[in-house]
Amino acid sequence: MVNQKSRKNSRNSRARRSRVTLAAVDRKTIHVKVNGKEYEREVQARLLLVDFLRDNLGLTGTHVGCDTSNCGACTILFDGRSVKSCSMLAVQADGKELLTIEGLANGSEYHPLQKAFWENHGLQCGFCTPGMIIQGYWFLKENPHPSEEQIRWGISGNLCRCTGYTNIVKAIQAASENMSKQEVLVQKVARS
Ligand code: FES
Ligand code: FES
Repeated sequence: MVNQKSRKNSRNSRARRSRVTLAAVDRKTIHVKVNGKEYEREVQARLLLVDFLRDNLGLTGTHVGCDTSNCGACTILFDGRSVKSCSMLAVQADGKELLTIEGLANGSEYHPLQKAFWENHGLQCGFCTPGMIIQGYWFLKENPHPSEEQIRWGISGNLCRCTGYTNIVKAIQAASENMSKQEVLVQKVARS
């Protein structure tokens, strides 16, 4: 009887110890720069990056469309590379620099790509739009003068249910021209 009681006590104390250990490894403090602003947060090791951005930082422009890395609504830049933030953990962003749709405009001045989406009716419901614009932004940085076919390839990981893509492609084409003109202007100013 005494032996049974002591075995039970020992099992309970082992379970308590492993719960404490699990709680300690389950959380981690991360430092991350998002849209130029530094953040320090303690997060659960299993927290998805997209949920960190939306729920911890309040950056709800990054959307969750599928949670299975198919739709691209959650696309952000991760140290300059386009990633689907539903397929990463927040702890992987420790020490990294991120850009979300909220960081694209310059104060109240929309980025040329945002303006081009507006002017070319590159959206309807708008759910895919933040991810589509961030993907387009990364793509134009990689390829500033793309053909229509290259644009279609560049956004092939981002799904839109409403537009049929035609106006999205037009918007990215228009932005590539406007962004090139802006670069020429900047170069002229630099030379004068
Ligand atoms: S929510 Fe990330 S790809 Fe769909
Ligand atoms: S505008 Fe509705 S999903 Fe793209």
